[in-house]
Amino acid sequence: MTPLAELLADRIRRYGPITFADFMRECLYHPVHGYYSMTESTRFADYYTSVDVHPIFGRLLARQFSEMWECLDRPPEFTLVEAGAGVGRLAAHILDFSESKFPPFYGALRYVAVERSAARREQASVRAKRHADAGHFEASIEIPPRIPMGCLFSNELADALAVHRVVMKDGALREIFVGISDGRFVDNVAGLSTCAITEYFAAQGVSLQEGQQAEAGLEACDWITEVGRRIERGYVLTIDYGHRAAELFDDHHMRGTLLAYRDHRATENYYDSPGEQDLTAHVNFSALETWGKRAGLETAGLVSQTAFLLALGRGNEFADLYGEGQTEVERARARLQLKTLIYPEGMGERFQVLIQQKGTATSQLTGLAGIS
Ligand SMILES: C[S@@+](CC[C@H](N)C(=O)[O-])C[C@H]1O[C@@H](n2cnc3c(N)ncnc32)[C@H](O)[C@@H]1O
Repeated sequence: MTPLAELLADRIRRYGPITFADFMRECLYHPVHGYYSMTESTRFADYYTSVDVHPIFGRLLARQFSEMWECLDRPPEFTLVEAGAGVGRLAAHILDFSESKFPPFYGALRYVAVERSAARREQASVRAKRHADAGHFEASIEIPPRIPMGCLFSNELADALAVHRVVMKDGALREIFVGISDGRFVDNVAGLSTCAITEYFAAQGVSLQEGQQAEAGLEACDWITEVGRRIERGYVLTIDYGHRAAELFDDHHMRGTLLAYRDHRATENYYDSPGEQDLTAHVNFSALETWGKRAGLETAGLVSQTAFLLALGRGNEFADLYGEGQTEVERARARLQLKTLIYPEGMGERFQVLIQQKGTATSQLTGLAGIS
């Protein structure tokens, strides 16, 4: 048993089974033993994200953000909030590129890297020190209370927010709690812990089939609601793997989408080694749209990462891939890395980009140009 497993087992023995959302939150974010509370030393052993593939990912995003700034009539201050910014790798790519390619945009840029883990916030501050010293960067534990004009974006944050697990049993929605038996964590099926779960499925017109398991991402609904409240004018851009509800809860997903990641292997052993493996669930983009709309966010579009990056890179034939003085071998390697990001069998079709907007004239953003 890991130290966190001992703590969780003790809590369950004393107070009874806990929701999977509570279990997942502790596994990922317990201040001492949570997977994301540790420094990043073991990260590449378990997973990597688009950010780690090549800086072109951040450079094309910078192009999209600078266009958003133009669409908002070039305000003197543009707040760019990155939620779940990790160690600030993407922040550095975006800030470096904006500084060199779009100086007027960089001049207006106030980049806020929001990260729940103190260790990662510290790493981000070190990495972006030059931009912080110039007044363009800060790391924060919280989304700013007001975002007067700007964009809030995230890459692989929403899939790391805690979910409840449910199952349709004898025609009724039941919840899968985490209990303990013979010293091991086990599923415990019982009545729903909150009526918000019923509302979650009803609001999206979803009814599960008999025996179907699924996740209810209530934390993601709360998150987008809060984002919608705080942003006054601008955009929300969410990159993650997932689907709209019609696909997420279809026949192909009878066991839900929850996965545990360790050593680049995905398993359904959610209860193994709490705090030492990643837990994720596919993002329900319909829920982000529905709850976003309630908070004033209109959907501008949902496209695959392939379509998004192709639309932004096509203009200059992906010249942003290359750095000065690179050899032909380095340039060839960069082209291969780009393929990982955009090819359907790589990250391209698995990842989706949702853009929502508030208080902006409906403008056609380049990243969404692939929408028919
Ligand atoms: C899968 S990692 C992705 C990191 C980075 N965005 C990337 O693409 O490499 C998710 C990150 O989100 C952070 N996180 C999760 N929930 C958060 C929240 N509510 N506010 C801020 N950060 C959060 C985690 O600590 C973790 O660093």
